[in-house]
Amino acid sequence: MSAIESVLVENRVFPPSEATIKAARISGMPAYEALCKEAERDFEGFWARLARENLQWTRPFTKTLDESNAPFYKWFEDGELNASANCLDRHIGTPVENKTAIVFESDDGQVSRVTYKELLARVGQFANALKAQGIRKGDRVIIYMPMGVEGVVAMQACARIGATHSVVFGGFSAKSIHERVIDAGAVAVVTANYQLRGGKEMGLKAIVDEALAMGGCDSVKTVFVYMRTPTACNMVAGRDKTFDEVLKGQPTECKPEPVGAEHPLFILYTSGSTGKPKGVQHSTGGYLLWSKLTMDWTFDLKPQDLFWCTADIGWITGHSYVAYGPLAAGATQLIFEGIPTYPHSGRFWQMIEKHKVSIFYTAPTAIRSLIKAAETDAKVHPKNWDLTSLRILGTVGEPINPEAWMWYYRNVGGERCPIVDTFWQTETGGHVITPLPGATPLVPGSCTLPLPGIMAAIVDEAGHDIPNGSGGMLVIKRPWPSMIRTIWGDPERFRKSYFPEEMGGRIYLAGDGAVRDAKTGYFRITGRIDDVLNVSGHRLGTMEIESALVSKTDLVAEAAVVGRPDDLTGEAVCAFVVLKRPRPTGEEAKKIANELRNWVAKEIGPIAKPKDIRFGENLPKTRSGKIMRRLLRSIAKGEKITQDVTTLENPAILDQLSETN
Ligand code: WT7
Repeated sequence: MSAIESVLVENRVFPPSEATIKAARISGMPAYEALCKEAERDFEGFWARLARENLQWTRPFTKTLDESNAPFYKWFEDGELNASANCLDRHIGTPVENKTAIVFESDDGQVSRVTYKELLARVGQFANALKAQGIRKGDRVIIYMPMGVEGVVAMQACARIGATHSVVFGGFSAKSIHERVIDAGAVAVVTANYQLRGGKEMGLKAIVDEALAMGGCDSVKTVFVYMRTPTACNMVAGRDKTFDEVLKGQPTECKPEPVGAEHPLFILYTSGSTGKPKGVQHSTGGYLLWSKLTMDWTFDLKPQDLFWCTADIGWITGHSYVAYGPLAAGATQLIFEGIPTYPHSGRFWQMIEKHKVSIFYTAPTAIRSLIKAAETDAKVHPKNWDLTSLRILGTVGEPINPEAWMWYYRNVGGERCPIVDTFWQTETGGHVITPLPGATPLVPGSCTLPLPGIMAAIVDEAGHDIPNGSGGMLVIKRPWPSMIRTIWGDPERFRKSYFPEEMGGRIYLAGDGAVRDAKTGYFRITGRIDDVLNVSGHRLGTMEIESALVSKTDLVAEAAVVGRPDDLTGEAVCAFVVLKRPRPTGEEAKKIANELRNWVAKEIGPIAKPKDIRFGENLPKTRSGKIMRRLLRSIAKGEKITQDVTTLENPAILDQLSETN
């Protein structure tokens, strides 16, 4: 694409076709605007109506929103419901009961199916197994599972008995599990012996064993082990039990436990500005309403759709758009165990053709890497497969560059499918700013407009509105049902992180910079404004990586981590390190850099490995001793230094820190 074309790209507008508008649930901009007006006119009435229409309540709520203890907002508080009943039981006795709920494709291409009725039975049976091990309403259960039906069953079974789950992504380290077990006070861990990815068998249970051996995990009484492969794994007598063992003799029927709407459905840990991940606590009622509602709004779900969200259940996307939303909406969804590049980089396109996927939702990073693969090997280009089943495409997790958007639109969507660029966060529970496929004219690289009832705005540090066309901080001025309720065990951190005093303490601060188009008011996200990085759509804290590096006490004296733009992964991790020994160069520097990368992988997970590691005799600091991060960001990007560096004690280190290893 020429430079001129790529500049023009941002001004291109792709309105939905007349046919798409006509067939859509939210049909055209006037329908979207009417919903926005309804929310403005009668905010509580709007949400109450949707909560009654979209969820089944065992006890109806009488009060919609309680703001008396803001920012600890409460929604539908005196109502009672069960999340699993709202995903499964609600379909029994309807035509959905015999519909396929999940099409599962394994790493090696084997396909299996479960209907809603069968899924309900499996969830009921596992719920009974949890109860038989003494797990009760309010208990916390860690889930460390591969992608598959069993992971969803485990989540749904917890929800069924009112236990709060906390899923840990299968790529996270033993130390991460250990931290989460302790922070959540978990009573059980659900895991598998191995996971299969890219033809390789990778241990999960061994990592759980290592985590639980780190001490302080006495709260964990049971480890449930799903035998994904025939390979044996270590089993601790009295503590560890295979799925077969615990399911044996358990009835498939299990009455769902009604819980209050505010009951914590799950805790999901995510990175923040400090070294310690935050346990984002979500509710049952408001959260579930959102995942169901956005299936209808954002994905315009129809009964005949085949929905495929490629996210892992270890991330919020896999919670809202794999484990809960599609089931609550009665969709048939595809779950994939493997990776997009195995056995070849056309796997996604091949699977879309094979299963006739109609709604496809993935991350810009995946698209960018598949573009690269298709450009180097024509055999894996999407044109080799019949993708005409597709009708809606989506992206999530990071900004999508207009070039990648155009490629996706043309080569995957055949210039026929709207792309919903969904902006949201672990904390928002579901989409908050996104196009609607049958209404919003699309602009590549823009997440366009807030959903009805989401009072998104761009403000300055004091919370004052910034006019369209200028950049500022993204906020949401009114609460919404699926918002984070607190940080597990740390309400003060919740308040401080998201509801700054300077803005009045009631407005949600997203942590992203954004700008609205002067004419259309469309939002464009410009990236995080805090010490959080987004690498391949994965969220990482710079402080977390710094703590991991300095915990290598025999080697590292000091470390500073910043992000720099990367064509493939969006952002890349760049670490500046001072060693406890003379500054290494050449081969030695490469060797130590690799050692440190592996160390970070072991401490946090492979996704946190720094791409660049640079060594200096010290780090650039201000007179008061603060690390000059802005300067480091410039160095990481290879920019010319324009900052004032006259205060630096040792200006020579700037050259040292520019050398990559
Ligand atoms: C951060 C949240 C949302 C689920 C997966 C990530 C970035 C997310 C977009 C988008 C631009 C985006 C933001 C946000 N982000 N979606 N469509 N356009 N940026 O959830 O791990 O909590 O990360 O991801 O920076 O704050 P998360």
